[in-house]
Amino acid sequence: MTVRTTRTAPAPRPPAPASPVTLLILGAGWTYQFLEPVLGREKISHAATTTTGRGSTIPFRFDSDSDDLTPFQALPDADYVLVTFPLKGRGPSTKLVRLYNETRHGQLRDSRAPAEWGSGHEHEHGDDHSHFSEDTNVGVAGSAKWIQLGSTGIWTTAAWNDESSAVNGTNARAVAEDELIALGGCVLNLAGLYGGGRNPRNWIARVAGSKKQLGEKGALHLIHGHDVARAVVGVVRTDRDRLDPKSGPDELIDHVQNSDKNYNNYKNNDDDDNNNNSGNAKLRNHLDSDITGKDAGLEPVFGRRWIVADCVSYDWWSLVWDWMGESAEKRESERESEPASDHKTDQYDDRSTKTQYRRWVAELMDENNVRGLPRSTELLGRKLDARRFWKTIGILPDRSLAR
Ligand SMILES: NC(=O)c1ccc[n+]([C@@H]2O[C@H](COP(=O)([O-])OP(=O)(O)OC[C@H]3O[C@@H](n4cnc5c(N)ncnc54)[C@H](OP(=O)(O)O)[C@@H]3O)[C@@H](O)[C@H]2O)c1
Repeated sequence: MTVRTTRTAPAPRPPAPASPVTLLILGAGWTYQFLEPVLGREKISHAATTTTGRGSTIPFRFDSDSDDLTPFQALPDADYVLVTFPLKGRGPSTKLVRLYNETRHGQLRDSRAPAEWGSGHEHEHGDDHSHFSEDTNVGVAGSAKWIQLGSTGIWTTAAWNDESSAVNGTNARAVAEDELIALGGCVLNLAGLYGGGRNPRNWIARVAGSKKQLGEKGALHLIHGHDVARAVVGVVRTDRDRLDPKSGPDELIDHVQNSDKNYNNYKNNDDDDNNNNSGNAKLRNHLDSDITGKDAGLEPVFGRRWIVADCVSYDWWSLVWDWMGESAEKRESERESEPASDHKTDQYDDRSTKTQYRRWVAELMDENNVRGLPRSTELLGRKLDARRFWKTIGILPDRSLAR
């Protein structure tokens, strides 16, 4: 006699939890090409997602209309989470943080009341991470800190704007950022991104395709992808320093500062000096005096937004004038050294286009009584002051636009 047993199909297993990392990057897009090498050099453990899971990334797509925890279960626990894609309006920021927290492997939310969350998972950095309020019902003490990449487009006032200036409150990204900030997050509002194939010169046709459009252009603010990567690492490093200022100089600091000549000079000099100060504090003191003064690293980097730009207000008219100029010497030497097939790569190679742009600039100068370029900053309209960010993380941007 055959005994039949009815088997119920086993419940699908959640994806295997990945190892914890220092930084989880939600969205390994354009900026990741710069971030990945910096993180590798700094030996910062990290994991990254794309919507397709290409390469070694984890497949992950956030749908603000869904409460499905499945996509979150494959994400590793992290000290810091960087969100590179835009969140818009009220709700998505809270939901993203909540769903991530609900699926943490080391700190899974259980049946305890929100006030008790986290009591079983003490974070190495102590209670400074307790940003999430009970009211928001999204988090736990000791859970990840969130960094969002935003845009400086939310500042629209035609004057100097710094991180404390009013933003356009109707901008959906600004609304979502404010929500993340209220949860203790840090928003890096980036100026125009360039580097790695993105060249602001190629934006002219789109943003200044007519004399009228060009006439309306004031200041251009930029940040190179390499400096975006340094900014992200700088935020993590500064936050850790702040929480543990007595720790010795670590690889993170060494590498982030690697390209700062001042730092290297200082470090060489300092090797001869038998000062017994503790590592980070000593580095910090020197960096402070190199850069900006006494309060670098003292301000919290989280719970607020920052302007991340290269500290240059480029004059669009001046840029166009330079780019549309012709240097006979340079052209000749380029033609001698390049194969003929490479000669036509410049979209403004056509001499009449260049002449037309230069003529527009000259006419605009006449019409506006501008006697020489670049224009004075008073004439440039909206401008961005990024000094405080770099001061707070204790480094300077490496790159500015080469012309
Ligand atoms: N372009 C500029 O000049 C400029 C200036 C200032 C600020 N920004 C902002 O800076 C940020 C970073 O820029 P970027 O060029 O690195 O961006 P990007 O190349 O568009 O990368 C975005 C990443 O997020 C992923 N992604 C998109 N939607 C997602 C979702 N719903 N759930 C999960 N992942 C999602 C994408 O996945 P896939 O790779 O699979 O597509 C991609 O990896 C953006 O927010 C951008 O708006 C840009």
